[in-house]
Amino acid sequence: MCMMTLIYSHLLVFLLCVTFQTKCDSVREPDLTGDRIVRPVLDEHKCKRFDEDILRHLGTKTPYRVVANADEATPAYQGCTPIYIAGVVRHGTRTPGVKDADRMRKNLEKIKASSFVPETELESPSLYQDSTRGTICQSEKDHIMSWKLTLESEEGKTLTREGEDEMFKLAQRYQKRYPDLLPKTYANSTFLFKFTQTQRTEESAKHFTTGLFGKDQSRQVWFPEALDKDPILRFYKLCERWKEDVKNNESSKEELIAYKNTAEALFMTREISRHLRLNYTLSYDDVYLMYVTCAFEVAWHKERRSPWCVVFTREDIQVLEYGEELKYYWRDGYGFDVNHQQACVLTRDIFDRFESRKESGQKALFYFTHSGTLLKLLSHLGLYRDAFKLKHDITGQQRRDRSWRVSYIDTFGTNFVFVFYNCSGDLKVLTLHQERVVHVPGCPGGDLCPLDALRQLLGANESCQFATICNSSQSGHYEL
Ligand SMILES: *[C@@H]1O[C@H](CO)[C@@H](O)[C@H](O)[C@H]1NC(C)=O
Ligand SMILES: *[C@@H]1O[C@H](CO)[C@@H](O)[C@H](O)[C@H]1NC(C)=O
Ligand SMILES: *[C@@H]1O[C@H](CO)[C@@H](O)[C@H](O)[C@H]1NC(C)=O
Ligand SMILES: *[C@@H]1O[C@H](CO)[C@@H](O)[C@H](O)[C@H]1NC(C)=O
Ligand SMILES: *[C@@H]1O[C@H](CO)[C@@H](O)[C@H](O)[C@H]1NC(C)=O
Ligand SMILES: *[C@@H]1O[C@H](CO)[C@@H](O)[C@H](O)[C@H]1NC(C)=O
Repeated sequence: MCMMTLIYSHLLVFLLCVTFQTKCDSVREPDLTGDRIVRPVLDEHKCKRFDEDILRHLGTKTPYRVVANADEATPAYQGCTPIYIAGVVRHGTRTPGVKDADRMRKNLEKIKASSFVPETELESPSLYQDSTRGTICQSEKDHIMSWKLTLESEEGKTLTREGEDEMFKLAQRYQKRYPDLLPKTYANSTFLFKFTQTQRTEESAKHFTTGLFGKDQSRQVWFPEALDKDPILRFYKLCERWKEDVKNNESSKEELIAYKNTAEALFMTREISRHLRLNYTLSYDDVYLMYVTCAFEVAWHKERRSPWCVVFTREDIQVLEYGEELKYYWRDGYGFDVNHQQACVLTRDIFDRFESRKESGQKALFYFTHSGTLLKLLSHLGLYRDAFKLKHDITGQQRRDRSWRVSYIDTFGTNFVFVFYNCSGDLKVLTLHQERVVHVPGCPGGDLCPLDALRQLLGANESCQFATICNSSQSGHYEL
């Protein structure tokens, strides 16, 4: 239903652009002055418009608005009353880290400086004649040449205005769906909000509570002291085995590295280099930097498009997107068991908090955390798991059919919510990802999973032995 809405709205934009062609062009294209140096004269008629399809392939830098569910109706289950809600939320759209921002500035400026080389100065002009995508048009070129990385903050990885907006609205939609669990009046005993020791999760929590309680009341919200290595919110920071076998281990990057050297990846980098009239071929990493910059800039500004997005064809974007899948699949997903087994500490904590709600009086729990936590949680739940392993050389059919798509499952503001219900004495749990009901594989029945069955499935009991799972002296990392 929502996918349909998404597709429909893209179609609508497309149709509007076709109908009012000149108008759509004039919205995006800057002035055409300053075209004195580069020959041949670039062909304005071949200008590519910003392709809305790109929005759905931006990997882990996808803004939440692309996947948000505008339907605020309460999922209704006959004879069942919601009694507790627990959410795990990735922080909203942020700025890049300091190192990444430096790299974006340095490398993209370098690309700008060596782009659009006149034909006579190109190393091998013949290379450019059989290019399938032609040369870049003048207004795109101007847009790229006048590009400058502009950040809301130079601090590194801070929540942006878009991120604040994402959290504020997410909270309001959840409040509309569950007004009894998330009343507009704050009480210290019924709510618990927690964030990691980072600006982006703290600000996310604060804007989320502003969405619930309004500006004045949200100032009274009490937050527990944030921990750098929170054993529940960011458990993997304490998992030595994961760090040794996966995070800091080159062998976990093998598939991505192999992928960067596939014929299709090399073809893409060559085509993009030609398109930009560079006299050298870009590395995969430089093209990836253009992709990430495109993603960030699209995320930060609802209207302003990034000039770097226009460099890519739909095929390029999908090549880059698959590189993202590989990166996260092996680091946080099904690639290695240790990635997701450790997430049992988080699900166990949620069940424990639910059990002790009578003593605590708690009705709502929200954790503000990171992509690494959400992906491990989703994998622990067995969601978006493919029957095959994601590798650099799976078939085209497998690639098209894959469920593991970080552009959907791991956007900024990604949220996973457990709603506990009392169904005439039977306790059941509804699970929602990106505000949509998901069925946890293995759960008997329909949307609602019996509490005990879910707890068993997740090993959220004494079988969750973090110390054993993460014991680095247990040698060798094991795969599925
Ligand atoms: C590429 O072009 C730039 C700018 O015209 C020039 O400075 C550089 O030397 C050229 N590089 C090669 C390898 O030809
Ligand atoms: C809120 O409750 C916590 C314990 O859950 C307590 O430590 C804290 O002081 C309370 N804050 C306020 C403002 O009452
Ligand atoms: C990396 O993983 C491999 C198994 O793929 C393991 O044998 C090796 O010890 C790990 N390296 C380090 C530095 O832990
Ligand atoms: C569930 O609802 C029933 C009434 O239908 C009530 O007797 C029971 O105490 C409730 N249980 C919980 C755990 O809230
Ligand atoms: C705990 O969960 C595990 C994993 O699903 C399951 O095999 C085991 O039976 C459960 N133990 C108890 C006591 O429920
Ligand atoms: C970790 O593994 C070592 C070696 O197998 C073992 O001696 C130790 O008891 C284990 N520690 C835990 C907490 O499981």
